[in-house]
Amino acid sequence: MATPLISPSILSADFARLGEEVRAVDAAGADWIHVDVMDGHFVPNLTIGPGVVKALRPHSAKPFDVHLMIEPVDLFLEAFAAAGADIITFHPEAGPHAHRTVQAIKALGKQAGIALNPATPAKMLDYLIDDIDLVLVMSVNPGFGGQSFISSQLRKIEAVRKMIDKSGRRVHLEVDGGVDLVTAPQCVSAGADVLVAGTATFKGGPEHYAANIAALKGAG
Ligand code: DX5
Ligand code: ZN
Repeated sequence: MATPLISPSILSADFARLGEEVRAVDAAGADWIHVDVMDGHFVPNLTIGPGVVKALRPHSAKPFDVHLMIEPVDLFLEAFAAAGADIITFHPEAGPHAHRTVQAIKALGKQAGIALNPATPAKMLDYLIDDIDLVLVMSVNPGFGGQSFISSQLRKIEAVRKMIDKSGRRVHLEVDGGVDLVTAPQCVSAGADVLVAGTATFKGGPEHYAANIAALKGAG
């Protein structure tokens, strides 16, 4: 089976030492750095903004995979792009004009991703798939790390894989939420090529990060 890319979610890192934590997962083999941005009303949690992304930028040359769980989205795109985001992913429910938001991200020279909540069908992508660089299938309801994987999302991953293959375009299929050594291979078999992992990367502290990431890649 193909080896997935691993994008550790820094939501599970030690926030008092965030720069060191990003350096540690980078050195431990992370492919991307997943940054969860939450606004307290699109999702019931508050995390970080563009200032933190900017402060973290010098700590890793790996792609910053910025997952916006905020409403509105458009107002903040420029700030995240300027702060150093490489991939900007948003939830279409967070704004009335998802296609326009994709165009705005591309105009900033960044890669655009669409996040699908557990209840959002793959069909949402029908008129977006030809313009985006990534689909993020949420396998938990967004807002918190450490939740259990929702197995029904495996069918959605399979459906999205078919859509991507049919499009003939190079679009990443990323899965986010409850990814561990049991669910990682299920996601990869269903067609995912990037796995977000918060709890599964950061468990045990820095001396375990390399083994944790290697195990997730191996499990795929
Ligand atoms: C949830 C976030 C996830 C989360 C994943 O809203 O988007 O990225 O941090 O955490 P784990 O891997 O612990 O489920
Ligand atoms: Zn996320």
